[in-house]
Amino acid sequence: QDDLFKNVVSHAKEYGFIFPSSEIYDGLSAVYDYAQNGVELKKNIREYWWKAMVQMHENIVGIDASIFMHPTTWKASGHVDAFSDPLIDNKDSKKRYRADVLIEDYAEKINIKAQKEIEKAKGRFGEVFNEQEFVTTNERVKGYLEQKNAILQRMARSLENDDLADVKALIEELGIACPESGSKNWTEVRQFNLMFATKLGASADTAMDLYLRPETAQGIFVNFLNVQKTGRMKIPFGIAQTGKAFRNEIVARQFIFRMREFEQMEMQFFVKPGEEIKWYEYWKETRLNWHKSLGLGAENYRFHDHEKLAHYANAAADIEFNFPFGFKELEGIHSRTDFDLKAHEEFSGKKLQFFDNDTNSSYVPYVVETSVGLDRMFLAVFSKALQEETLEDGSTRTVLRLPSVLAPTKAAVLPLIKRDGLPEVAKEIIEELKWDFNVSYDEKDAVGRRYRRQDALGTPFCITVDHQTLEDKTVTIRHRDSMQQDRVAITELKNIISNEVAM
Ligand code: GAP
Repeated sequence: QDDLFKNVVSHAKEYGFIFPSSEIYDGLSAVYDYAQNGVELKKNIREYWWKAMVQMHENIVGIDASIFMHPTTWKASGHVDAFSDPLIDNKDSKKRYRADVLIEDYAEKINIKAQKEIEKAKGRFGEVFNEQEFVTTNERVKGYLEQKNAILQRMARSLENDDLADVKALIEELGIACPESGSKNWTEVRQFNLMFATKLGASADTAMDLYLRPETAQGIFVNFLNVQKTGRMKIPFGIAQTGKAFRNEIVARQFIFRMREFEQMEMQFFVKPGEEIKWYEYWKETRLNWHKSLGLGAENYRFHDHEKLAHYANAAADIEFNFPFGFKELEGIHSRTDFDLKAHEEFSGKKLQFFDNDTNSSYVPYVVETSVGLDRMFLAVFSKALQEETLEDGSTRTVLRLPSVLAPTKAAVLPLIKRDGLPEVAKEIIEELKWDFNVSYDEKDAVGRRYRRQDALGTPFCITVDHQTLEDKTVTIRHRDSMQQDRVAITELKNIISNEVAM
């Protein structure tokens, strides 16, 4: 799995999908740039989402709110007080850690011990069944799991009660050592807010403290009534938005999985109080189906229902994806009650209510939110698509089996050789196709190598122009996944490609 993940990272760089940010200065930790092919894939994922959410739902509209928002927004939303990670420093190594991650990693090690016991036992019992051994193994596994759960429960309780001294006590009792130095000399645990602060205005006394938004959702809440009135929206209705969000993540790791600057695709669905659980179930289902529609394999998704709920939610679940490093959160679906709109009413002094003509009364709607990280979607799609294949002749090929609808380039047009007028015909084909699709031209190297390069870029079609083309205006079209080649008329190309790549 480690190797697979390394392949993903190096393939993303080598083929122009993702570069480390400011690489000539040795990069900036947990910040990445999307390169020439990455930007296309990312844009296509965003459009695929937008189409499913906005275009296909009559009662969902989009907005694009600013990254800067009035600072009171973040007091109302709870982010000033409650959006923080518990941090602890090691006094000897001077390294900083998230206390909850240290404890979770420790608990995970106990979990692994339990799994190993089970694996070992499976091997042994396969040969001779020994009842006594069965009982002791069972006891040991149970013991490990109880220990693990007790640790996680105590941590959750302490964090919930803001009892940071107990979080530190737990780390000490468990004898957790600094992963870097092995030292157990820890500081107190303190809360560290994840929002990036900046200033608006130049003069020292009038400048206003601002935050870069840590989620796009609040831009939707503060515009709720504007959109509802100007769009004459009736409940239930939704507002969708994609855009950058910023979090000063302490443990930023796993490539583009957890970044400090990332993009979210969020939709807030406003419903009548009392109907939120029905809609929550509806959106859980609908969003899972959207993911599955990409064809990456239904077995790679699962729900994780939250037992511990955020301050704003009365039900919440994640859609988890089987990343190269295991099942992890890809999307969150949250029933946020009227927490946000009520809080904004209170802090702004403005009413944020829907007037229901049928009952002649006003109410603050409840909200069901779907929130997916665009970069995480990218990683999910890219890592599953990247495959090494052994072909019939024993050779291997690297192929990026991206869903065609998301592929950065839909077709590459390749003249078999660089003379005899073939490049000119290839360029004419490009002139025709480029109005509808992203197409590329390549004349360098033998055609077999060019096919491999397009496979690695995820291009669904290669169109080859040869001498026969000059006679009968046909070309070969090669399919990325099956490698099958068909002879078709140039005039058919547009249809063939459209059929495969349509959203
Ligand atoms: N408005 C709700 C909200 O922001 P969240 O669970 O904190 O909820 C939603 O974030 C999604 O945003 C996550 O499921 C994940 O896909 C993405 N996300 C969150 N933090 C991220 C980070 N540091 N880097 C990349 N994606 C992130």
